[in-house]
Amino acid sequence: VCSVPCFYCWLGINLISLNSRLFAQCCLYNCSSGEKSMVEDDDKIGLYSYKVQSTITSRLANTMIQAKMVNNAKRPQHIVFDVQVPKGAFIDNFTMDVNGITFTSSIREKSEARRMYSQAKAKGKAAGIVRSNALDMENFKTEVNVPPGTRIQFELHYQEMIRRKLSSYEHVISLKPGRLAKHMEVDVRIIEPQGIRYVHVPNSLGDHFNGITTISKGEKKAHISFKPTMAQQRKCPTCSSTAVDGNFVVQYDVNRESTGGELEIFNGYFIHFFAPENLDPLPKNILFVIDVSGSMWGLKMKQTIEAMKAILSELRAADQFSLIDFNHNVRCWRDNLVSATPAQVEDAKKYIQTIHPNGGTNINEALLRATFILNEAQNLGMLDPNSVSMIVLVSDGDPTVGELKLTTIQKNVKQSIKDEFSLFCLGIGFDVDYDFLQRIATDNRGMAQRIFGNQETSAQMKRFYNQVSTPLLKKIQFNYPQESVSDVTQSSFHNYFGGSEIVVAGKVDTANLQHLESVVTATAANAELVMETLRDVEELDGFMKKDKYADPEFTRKLWAYLTVNQMLAERNTAPTAALKRNITKSILQMSLDHHIVTPFTSMLIENSEKDEIMLADQPKDPRRGCCSGLTPNAPDNNKGIPPWANVTAVPVSFMPEQRSPPVLLLTPASFLYISVDNDPHFIIYLPKSQRNICFNINSDPGHILNLISDRSTGVVVNGQLIGAKKEENKKLNTYFGKFGFYFKNKGLKVEIDTETITLKDGSYSIMLSWSDTGHIIRKQLLISVKKESNVTIRVGEEMSFMVLLHRVWKNHPVNVDFLGIYIPPENQFSPEAQGLIGQFTSEPEVYIYNQRPGQTPEKPQATMEVKGNKLTVTRGLQKDYRTNRVFGTDVQCWFVHNSGKGFIDGHYKDYLVSHLYSFLKEP
Ligand SMILES: *[C@@H]1O[C@H](CO)[C@@H](O)[C@H](O)[C@H]1NC(C)=O
Ligand SMILES: *[C@@H]1O[C@H](CO)[C@@H](O)[C@H](O)[C@H]1NC(C)=O
Ligand SMILES: *[C@@H]1O[C@H](CO)[C@@H](O)[C@H](O)[C@H]1NC(C)=O
Ligand SMILES: *[C@@H]1O[C@H](CO)[C@@H](O)[C@H](O)[C@H]1NC(C)=O
Ligand SMILES: *[C@@H]1O[C@H](CO)[C@@H](O)[C@H](O)[C@H]1NC(C)=O
Repeated sequence: VCSVPCFYCWLGINLISLNSRLFAQCCLYNCSSGEKSMVEDDDKIGLYSYKVQSTITSRLANTMIQAKMVNNAKRPQHIVFDVQVPKGAFIDNFTMDVNGITFTSSIREKSEARRMYSQAKAKGKAAGIVRSNALDMENFKTEVNVPPGTRIQFELHYQEMIRRKLSSYEHVISLKPGRLAKHMEVDVRIIEPQGIRYVHVPNSLGDHFNGITTISKGEKKAHISFKPTMAQQRKCPTCSSTAVDGNFVVQYDVNRESTGGELEIFNGYFIHFFAPENLDPLPKNILFVIDVSGSMWGLKMKQTIEAMKAILSELRAADQFSLIDFNHNVRCWRDNLVSATPAQVEDAKKYIQTIHPNGGTNINEALLRATFILNEAQNLGMLDPNSVSMIVLVSDGDPTVGELKLTTIQKNVKQSIKDEFSLFCLGIGFDVDYDFLQRIATDNRGMAQRIFGNQETSAQMKRFYNQVSTPLLKKIQFNYPQESVSDVTQSSFHNYFGGSEIVVAGKVDTANLQHLESVVTATAANAELVMETLRDVEELDGFMKKDKYADPEFTRKLWAYLTVNQMLAERNTAPTAALKRNITKSILQMSLDHHIVTPFTSMLIENSEKDEIMLADQPKDPRRGCCSGLTPNAPDNNKGIPPWANVTAVPVSFMPEQRSPPVLLLTPASFLYISVDNDPHFIIYLPKSQRNICFNINSDPGHILNLISDRSTGVVVNGQLIGAKKEENKKLNTYFGKFGFYFKNKGLKVEIDTETITLKDGSYSIMLSWSDTGHIIRKQLLISVKKESNVTIRVGEEMSFMVLLHRVWKNHPVNVDFLGIYIPPENQFSPEAQGLIGQFTSEPEVYIYNQRPGQTPEKPQATMEVKGNKLTVTRGLQKDYRTNRVFGTDVQCWFVHNSGKGFIDGHYKDYLVSHLYSFLKEP
């Protein structure tokens, strides 16, 4: 009867409760005082089970929160189900069971849902659910008034993509049951086809729960279980309140073998996870713009100063920076960017310590000054072309001085940044229009974060900064075969920051496809990178079938998650109302198709008779920033000439194997298939006399042999020996385990071992692994890696080298992985070239005569005259592995004994050098 006053009473928080069989007795609330007279019976509500189950399948987390409660009081009670859902997660299902009556949910277009709800309400049959926002969680709250003895079960499902931050995935589950639960259990299962590197459960619920969590971790699966007993839940042995009140956090990371990223293909969708490591940071140009208006006074400023001092200390020598502080005025510590030398950093720290907050907030002026400084540096050519420029804005309030209109500020900033820099925004506390900060950040390739204005502020600022402090790549472009993929999510990104992960998804037509290939191009600190990844489209099928917890829909859900979040960000910055409407329509369709609650849908909860209806709606307050998912990189709108023209144009015929067959070649002997000897084993083809001459070098593991030392062209090639795991026939075989190439004129060094390929330019280095197919281009030097197979180094048109990888069975008792090198004859070394190979650039005169039977008939002997020496040589076979990497191809040659003595200049020991990049000493 009192539905009307209650309606008004609860309007403030959107809860509407009307008379009905279940939702009676709302009058017990004293609306005029706002007092809840029900509270006295609060402890009569029993929570007999509280369960959270979360399954992460390849970053896609499906979480279920279930509570079973009972009204033990003698009077009707309000039973509240109040849980927190991470911001950006999509609620996809809610069910409720009240004394056997089941309520199920459906997702509807917002206005339709509201209409249906108000119609039902008019008939006096409805209750409400409210969703409201907190910092990084959203509340989902249901209140139901039930008669005594009622049993009620709530179950909420939501899904989210776990983003990688600071080198780990963090899954946060809010655990606030509000009271002791008879049975409480949290189960988190992680299923990661890439393999799980580690799982860590920090003590985020407090020391009280030390040792209660159990973790079992396999190679690709992990299970985390937290089941505190009622006694363990109690705050103290005699307490009736629960100590379970906080976040349950699981951190983990996955294994990564390939720099080109991991392609997962399943059920008609592909997901590409890209998180390369082992790259040198790009230099950055960074402007800190700090709000020092009066509202920052006190703790906020103290914490900001502390954070800034730490952040400044972390700048790298190659970085350039400056500081701007603003209230109603804008002040600069330096009018231009300066290098982050220790002296400048010290000076900046001193400057920031002297700041006393007061006055108003002129955000517009401050941001325009910052972009002016960056633009000027750019125009004067002061910025390293490979560097990344960014502005970091720290503010705690809305503009109060100067330009106040947010849309005008947004337009001004966009115009002056011109898509050249990134803008990152930190909003401190709740006085700031966070939605605005998020809009200007995503509009300008950045991201925003809200942080509390409390003791944690400094730590949170540093954490945010650390996410963007290490740019590793810029201009990242993902390419897939157009004929087999469609609906690809954002595929070009301005920056990749260390510790994060870029995820691209799309639909893939696997009907006529065996493999899916991707090519990623990017600019690294010292090179242009082209990385190829190839995946069998059925590779995951077996794995997914075997695991009963894995979500077979994970690829579809990840794709939908990315697509919807991307459209939400695009909608935020859409220039025209028409486009906005279009995007809204697409988001709505996606939400309905994929059954997820987004800002344009609501959830209706009804019983089967459809005479009880509830509405789950989102708050409308824009200050709370309801709708924008955090997208780390704004889409690249910079259409026009692709910056990759140089890179993608690398013709395949660049590779020497496509040219005339190499004639001068050198290879180490193989392990199993050669009876003669396993030591590094050279085959030299002499074009004039059309003969192959072979020799072995018997030296020790660790020794570095010079192969080419050409001072005129500035080229050095050295090879370092490794030994087998143990002796065989009282002899320890050696192989080439590492090659060093030094191109002195370019200042470039290349190191290749059996694990990685590293290019070094001064203090920079860049690494590819043998498990990637990829290229590095730097100063006209091309390194092209064919996964697990070979590397070609090409220097302009003049020179090329090929290194072949020989993998042996990992557990082989004797053999180890090793390398071979092939040098084509077109290489233009100078006639002065030296080294075990280099000396043969000038072909010696060789006469072979007096062929006679040897010890065995298939190994005849002969006499060879070369360089004034008379040698006995043996006819034999050696292996060339270029066409057949496993068995090799037999090459007939004349074998020179005693480590090539007489055939090579001097003794083989004359070719030992001390470093991988040393020239041979002048003779
Ligand atoms: C409701 O609150 C008002 C104001 O505090 C008070 O005067 C009134 O007595 C209360 N009514 C009941 C039924 O408790
Ligand atoms: C929602 O959850 C209930 C209970 O687990 C289930 O029966 C129902 O099929 C789910 N609905 C959807 C659309 O997933
Ligand atoms: C909106 O979508 C329709 C149909 O998809 C299209 O024809 C129209 O050009 C779009 N309008 C804008 C402004 O993008
Ligand atoms: C691409 O090629 C053009 C013309 O050959 C050259 O000017 C430019 O510097 C090259 N860019 C890169 C990134 O190598
Ligand atoms: C290098 O490896 C690729 C891929 O395995 C292979 O196709 C190519 O023939 C190899 N090149 C040589 C010269 O062995």
